[in-house]
Amino acid sequence: MLVTFKEILSDALDHKYAVGAFNCLSLENVMGAIEAAEELSSPIILQLAEVQFPYSPLACMAPIFLEYARKSKVPVCVHLDHGQSFETCAEAIRLGFNSVMIDSSLLPFRENVALVKDVVRMAHAMHVDVEAELGMVGTIGVTEASGGDIYTGVEESARFIAETGVDALAIALGNMHGNYVATPKLNITRLQEINARNHFPLVLHGGTGTSVEDFKACIHNGICKINVATAIQLRITEKVRRYVADDRANYIDMKYVIVDASREVVKEHLTLFESIGHA
Ligand code: 13P
Repeated sequence: MLVTFKEILSDALDHKYAVGAFNCLSLENVMGAIEAAEELSSPIILQLAEVQFPYSPLACMAPIFLEYARKSKVPVCVHLDHGQSFETCAEAIRLGFNSVMIDSSLLPFRENVALVKDVVRMAHAMHVDVEAELGMVGTIGVTEASGGDIYTGVEESARFIAETGVDALAIALGNMHGNYVATPKLNITRLQEINARNHFPLVLHGGTGTSVEDFKACIHNGICKINVATAIQLRITEKVRRYVADDRANYIDMKYVIVDASREVVKEHLTLFESIGHA
């Protein structure tokens, strides 16, 4: 069933687990993710980021996400990940997404607040929830490491939440998108401080390559949504590569290889995130 972002996150916050949010780039990804959530009786978020639109167009993926969400036996939220403009958020809402992320985290604080506030006003008028980001979660190999404090500030987080009216906040704890060269060590102390100051739905981006210890510490200290993208792509690539090495390989069975690989990775993460049985 299609549920709101607020509903799915508030249950996670109350019961101290995290909802897995998986970037799905194809029908096979969606099929595998939903099968995983149903097998484990877990809520789930299907999401698509704006940078993924060139190969997975929003207007084509939206009906697939919505069809599977509505038909599903478990709570599913359909979310725009890293929307880069007011217009993209509006378009996702028009297509039926029930939550959007506006990522203006590269802007100075005041400008970030102003844009998020505008998106919140428009989205809430349409009964759609909003995630925003404060602090910088970069991308491995793309974003240069900055010398200063890369973590989200505690007081800043409280001001940002109050001034924007946002429904969930992605924070920077030393996490990055992509495939880490070495396992990162997240700043759990900062997370505990942000959580104690706000008691509000917090989001961890860059789930791929995070240690089990850090995942657990995040879940038990206020992170109630965790984004995973690269891990699914890596597993699919590995399985497809092995599958096509066989002369009998065919396209239709290869589609099932993709569904199975997606299901496998999603199940592993839903288990780690302790969301099993919370549907
Ligand atoms: P990974 O690709 O590191 O799993 O990050 C996913 C993500 O945060 C999408 O917003």
